[in-house]
Formats: sequence, structure tokens, C-alpha cells
Amino acid sequence: MVNYTKLIAEKISWAVQISKTELESYIEIPPQSDMGDFAFPCFKLAKTLKKSPVMIAGEIKDKIDTDEYIEKIEENSGYLNFYINNEKLVEEVLKEIENQKEEYGKSDEGNGKNIIVEYSSPNIAKPFHIGHLRTTLIGNSLYRIYKYLGYNTTGINHLGDYGTQFGKMIEAYKMWGKEYDLTEDPINKMMDMYVRINNLCKEDEKVLERCRENFKLLEENDEYCRNLWENFKNISLQEFDKIYNLLDVKFDSLNGEAFYSDKMDEVVSILDAKGKLKESEGAMIVDLTEDGIETPCIVQKADGSSIYATRDLAAILYRARTYDFDKCLYIVAYEQNLHFKQIFAVAKYLVDEKYAKGLKHVSYGMVQLPTGKMSTRLGNVVKIEDLLNETIEKAKEIVLEKNPNLENKDEVAKKVGIAAIAFNTLSTTNTKDQIFDWNTALNFQGETGPYIQYTYVRTKSVLEKIAEMPKAEEIKYELLTDESSIKVLKSLYAFKETLEVTVDKNEPAILARYLIELSQNYSNFYNNNKVLVEDKDVQNARVFLTYAVGTVLKTGAALLGIQMPDKM
Ligand code: ARG
Repeated sequence: MVNYTKLIAEKISWAVQISKTELESYIEIPPQSDMGDFAFPCFKLAKTLKKSPVMIAGEIKDKIDTDEYIEKIEENSGYLNFYINNEKLVEEVLKEIENQKEEYGKSDEGNGKNIIVEYSSPNIAKPFHIGHLRTTLIGNSLYRIYKYLGYNTTGINHLGDYGTQFGKMIEAYKMWGKEYDLTEDPINKMMDMYVRINNLCKEDEKVLERCRENFKLLEENDEYCRNLWENFKNISLQEFDKIYNLLDVKFDSLNGEAFYSDKMDEVVSILDAKGKLKESEGAMIVDLTEDGIETPCIVQKADGSSIYATRDLAAILYRARTYDFDKCLYIVAYEQNLHFKQIFAVAKYLVDEKYAKGLKHVSYGMVQLPTGKMSTRLGNVVKIEDLLNETIEKAKEIVLEKNPNLENKDEVAKKVGIAAIAFNTLSTTNTKDQIFDWNTALNFQGETGPYIQYTYVRTKSVLEKIAEMPKAEEIKYELLTDESSIKVLKSLYAFKETLEVTVDKNEPAILARYLIELSQNYSNFYNNNKVLVEDKDVQNARVFLTYAVGTVLKTGAALLGIQMPDKM
């Protein structure tokens, strides 16, 4: 399929002898359609060419020509505006979608590049909270999109399964294990045990001492402690898996913090050999003032034990060696901004520059829970499983109200409920706080997951009524050049680029926004045009457009972790 940006950059490059790639990055989509489909701001070249933008625009325009794709080129106060040939656009897009079907937009641009997406990473024996839901969904989506664009992608769940708190958990179990039946609601019970032992430790030094002892034993692989720890971990994972299954989230590796417990000495010795370790009040630290970070990174506590940061450093070393990554993304809440600044700064001393540069913290904002009934009933810590199930219940009510005779209601309700949550979460820009609100998330007419599904189902029901799918080459392309059709076609064209920008910025909200626009453009087309009409040519053209929209909506939504029902 033609790439207009490349095509235009080539033309200009030929005229001004500047590299295509540089020029490509300057090409814009004008805010209004009467300013063309693409624009080139000539002031970007004023410095290099030592001329005014207006002069540059005039000169380029004289040198370049229109062609079968570009119908008209205009200059307008230092801008060059390009108008594409709409008929050609229709042809290009429809043929490409016919060829690639549900793989439209897929590419191999990522071939040869290794990407790690680290996401979810809850702490075992503790609740999976709403912040973890956000990293899970963002990570899942980025993981899918990177894969789709051909990157060799590894998804890692860096479980919080290590640390001195497990010494406490073991002590709590020794003391009160019989009181708790961990076969039911285990996370809350473990949480309860943890709070209880913590309180006791504050009162009684001796208990605290025993907890420390347990942790030491755990580190030394003592069988009893090890088994208990494993048990806590398995119980937690069973609970987390319920959420992952509902959301259809998968990982390639569950190597969490504990995995690095025997890999930290090397970190300490490398840093030491490079002369980067300093002693401070008995602890070992790396001073980072040179990097403009005031708080030093502690790598070893005064008692010789490691901390969270040390395990992250060991993970960087391990991942560089194991995955030879080009990028390693950490989808973690903004509260940990300083932590990542610190470990990335220290990483420069541990791994090659290539790896240190590939580390990226994809930080996200808070999630505000709805106030009122729901939040009080669920308590302070929202149980994510309850939240998901409650949303699915609500979705079922709405779906049944609209379509009482629906078959496989439960399956549809599940897809709609998950879509509501996933879209609500993913359409919020990473860095912004997200507000969770049922009425907004489940509104079939709003900018929501269910609205995208609803639009898809609409395309399906149109296609159900026709006897045979027309072929793209038989379409009379000029029949789709009216305003509302061409808007849809332009959206369809933009899919691939949208995916590229989404991974470039690691921001699924860009894809989410795109799917809303495509849905809105199709709804607009649908309201303005009858699809099933007497005139066979008109019908074929509109049917094919409908098919194309449905296909791209389905593919795009799947990349956000949203599945389409056939009916709703
Ligand atoms: N387990 C941590 C938490 O729940 C998040 C881990 C983030 N990843 C990392 N490599 N430090 O807060």
C-alpha cells in the first residue's frame, strides 16, 4: 500500500537534497481538510537552506509534480499542502485489506529487535490492586502491539516474591497457621496475618528477631521455610491467574524478585570493581549526584541483605545477557519514578551502553475509584476480581435489556464487561490519573469499549444480510469518495501509522482514540448512507467498506485486549 508520507518526503528530498527520513518527520496532517491531506512546514528547512519559508515553499513547488496518488500541491504561507487522489486512496486501502484481512496493519518493521515488556508484577501474599490492573492492561496491550509489528517480544511478570516480609509471613504462619483456612479468600487472610505479625513485631523485639531468622533460613534454602514460601506463592498465583484468565493476559516469564536472589553478589562485585560503591552508615551505596540524582542508590543494607533495587539491578544484568534487549520497558506506577531513575543510572556501570540506553520506565498515574456504594462495599482495597465480575454483571443487565433473546449471554457479557474496563483504563493517557466510573465505562454511546463493540456488531449484521462478499477489484472506487465514506477510508489508511506511533510513545491511548474515531466515522457514514440498496455497484462499494471497518475494529480492539462479540 502506498505510504503518502514517504512518497511526499521523496519528492521534497529530490528537490532540496535533504534526507528523506528527516523530511518524513516534518510532514504533518493539517488540522482542517481544506488545507490538504498532508502538509510540509517549510520553516523547518529555513535554517539549513538559509532562505525564508515562503521562498522555500515556492521553489519546491516549482520543482515537484503531482502523480497518480497526489492530485494537487499548493503553497500557503510557507507551507506546502498536498491533496491526495481520493479514488486511488480507496483502491489502495480496500485492496490491502482484502489481501491482509485480519492481519491488516501487521508489519515486520520490528524484525531483528528484541523488546522486553515487564508488566503487572504484583506482590505475592498481598492484594492485586487497581494500580496493578492498570500496568497489566497497558503492558498486555503494548506486548501485543510490539509483536504485531514484528518485534521479538518477551513479556515478563516481575513478581514481588522476595524480601524480609516473607520472614514475617513465615513466623505468622508458625504462630497462627491453624486459625486460617487458606483454601478460601487466601489473599485477604494472608494480608490479615501480615498486619497482625507486623503489629506484634512492633511490640516484641524477640518476635522481630525470629522473623529475621526465618528470612535468613529462607535465603539459605531451609526446607521448611522454602516450602512455606512456595505455598504462599502458589496460592497467590492461583488468585492472580483468575484475573489473568478473565483478561486473557499471558506472560513468557514469571521470573520475579526471588529469581535474582542468587544473582546479586555479582552486581555488588561489578560495582565494587568499578569503584562505584561507597560505605554509608554501614550500608553500601552508589552516589548519583553526578547524574543529578540527590538520593543515592542503596545496593546493600547494613546487615548485608539486599534490597528491591539490588534485585532490579541483577535483573537488568540477567536480561541483557539472556534477551539481548534493544528496549526493556517497565510499566510501573509513577510512585516509583525515583527508583527507576536510580537503577537506570547505576545500570550504566553494569551493562553496555546499548542496554543502559534501552531501559525505559513507562510510568502511569493513579487510579481513582468511584465513590459511593461500590467502593465502600469492596472495602479500601478493591478486589480486582470482584471489580471485574461486578462489571460483567452490569454489562449483562444492559445487554439483556437491549436484546432479551440473545444467545450465549454470559459470553457476550464477559466480553462487554472486560471491554468496558480495558478501554476505560487504556484510553487514559499513561501519565494522567484515571477515574473509574461504571456509567461512563459502560455507556454504549459514549467513547467506550462497548461502543466500539457495538459498531463492530453493526458491521456484522449488515454483512449477514448479503449473499456474497464483493471483491475489492470489482468495486467502483469513485462511489466511495463522498465526504463521509472518504473519512472512513482515511481512518482505515491511518491504522498502521497509529500502531507505529503507539509503540513509539508506548501509549495505548493512541490506539484507543483511533478506534473511537474509526467507529464514529463509520457511524456517521452509516447514518448518511443506506448500505443495502437497489444499485448493485453502490451496494458492493458500501458493503466492502463495512467489511473493512469491521475487520480493522476487530484487529485493533484485540491489540488492546478487547474481544468482539458477534451479537450484542
Ligand atoms: N512489585 C512491585 C509493586 O507491586 C512492582 C514491581 C515493578 N517492577 C520492577 N522491576 N521493580 O509495587
